[in-house]
Amino acid sequence: MAKSKSEFIFPSFEINGESEIPVYRQIYDLIRNLILNGTIRSGQRLPSSRELAEKLKVSRTTILQSLDDLFSEGYIEGKTGSGTFVSSKIPESFINSISANRTTRNKKLVNKKSSRLNKYLDAEKLDYNKFQPFKPGVPDLNNFPFSIWSKLLANVSNELSPKEFGYGSAAGYKPLRIAIANHIRISRSVKCEPEQIIITGGSQQGIDLICRVLLERGNNVGFEDPGYPGARDIIGAAGMNIVPLQMDEEGLSFKDVKKKCDLIYATPSHQYPLGITMTLNRRLELIDYASSKNIWILEDDYDSEYRYDGHPISSLQGIDEYGCVIYMGTFSKVMFPGLRIGYLVVPENLIESFTAAKLLSDRNSPIFEQAALQKFISDGHFGRHLRKMRILYEQRKKFFYEAVEKHLNKYLNLHKTETGLHTVGWLKNNRSDRKIAKHFFENGVITPPLSSYYIDKGKKTGLVLGYAAYSEKQIISSIKIMKEILQSK
Ligand SMILES: Cc1ncc(COP(=O)(O)O)c(C=O)c1O
Repeated sequence: MAKSKSEFIFPSFEINGESEIPVYRQIYDLIRNLILNGTIRSGQRLPSSRELAEKLKVSRTTILQSLDDLFSEGYIEGKTGSGTFVSSKIPESFINSISANRTTRNKKLVNKKSSRLNKYLDAEKLDYNKFQPFKPGVPDLNNFPFSIWSKLLANVSNELSPKEFGYGSAAGYKPLRIAIANHIRISRSVKCEPEQIIITGGSQQGIDLICRVLLERGNNVGFEDPGYPGARDIIGAAGMNIVPLQMDEEGLSFKDVKKKCDLIYATPSHQYPLGITMTLNRRLELIDYASSKNIWILEDDYDSEYRYDGHPISSLQGIDEYGCVIYMGTFSKVMFPGLRIGYLVVPENLIESFTAAKLLSDRNSPIFEQAALQKFISDGHFGRHLRKMRILYEQRKKFFYEAVEKHLNKYLNLHKTETGLHTVGWLKNNRSDRKIAKHFFENGVITPPLSSYYIDKGKKTGLVLGYAAYSEKQIISSIKIMKEILQSK
């Protein structure tokens, strides 16, 4: 193609001084995009480096750096002195069709696959990053010993041998698996050897691995109703049918279930969100049921380290004589959610399959955090932090219950709970929990409506209230806001 003399009008462009992308690379991207979307065509002349430098208000050296990269990748050609031209080797048809193709192709893909996932982002949009009363599911992030944690992170980066920085074991860092096994054998009566521990990126990934290893698309999963949406969404997104299982005062009720389930998901120590602790009788019945039907139970033991009254209750896995329970734990409540470390305790004959699934999913969890966590546990910081927080949370629970009794007893009945970081407040007169939660939310108080946790419609309305993470000052001021709203509505 003959080289055209005409120069196009260079579009105005703001260099982003805050960006991590170097300025010369921003200019490279700009010109490259103008070529690929067909704004400047093969043979067309670019403004001189001096003009470009003036126009974009950068040095000529920066412009020459951008042009160098474009030259070496074949987007432009030319000789010093005679000008710079868009390469004649880029086929016209490619350039013309590229942007149109990209739009139609993306549209097709978005329609088919991606949009199916978008509904799972609703919770993320609403309030995920907010840390204010009474958002449930978060520990007190102001009381975590971050100074110790950062020292441990620095120490492990010096102490780990170079080979630990290569690809690690997919099942997890062995010393951490040993520390976890030692901890849960004692604190939760879990029967396990370190080899059975698979380190995960939190419960979210744990459930995903369970779907991959134990279930096929279209399997039925019995799920507590109301239940934990985080788990329900992963199972649903993996293509399973969710079968709602009712709750009664003893815990999960599974006898009337119409469909045969392949797996039952349960939070027996502290049902999420109702806060019920499953009775021993019901636990034994559930294990018998699962073993007689030859199905799995996934025990999500997310916050039972915080037990304030009554006897410590062992895990379901600890009393399972048949090997049908997969135990799942997380450090999100006892450390902090951003850590993204959890674990599964899997039967011996499935260790390899779970390790393979983890390998395929993300190769292995990050080594720094695993090693620092192992130190945190083995050096005794974990035990100290847990004891300190248990006392603090118990005081807050007492304070919260007394404050609700004093200010809100006309409107709310709190469920009595001995475990965990949250409870449920039943709304008197069955008022609409969604409407009330919306008013609270608009005034800075987060109280997820119980009805949003149900698959089938719940009989009673209520609010899910995380009390443990917030100071007494925050608790009382939020309760006063709630009172004012409830009085006025
Ligand atoms: C029932 C239940 N399981 C597990 C988790 C923790 O999930 P992750 O380990 O992915 O942070 C939560 C968090 O709120 C929860 O409520």
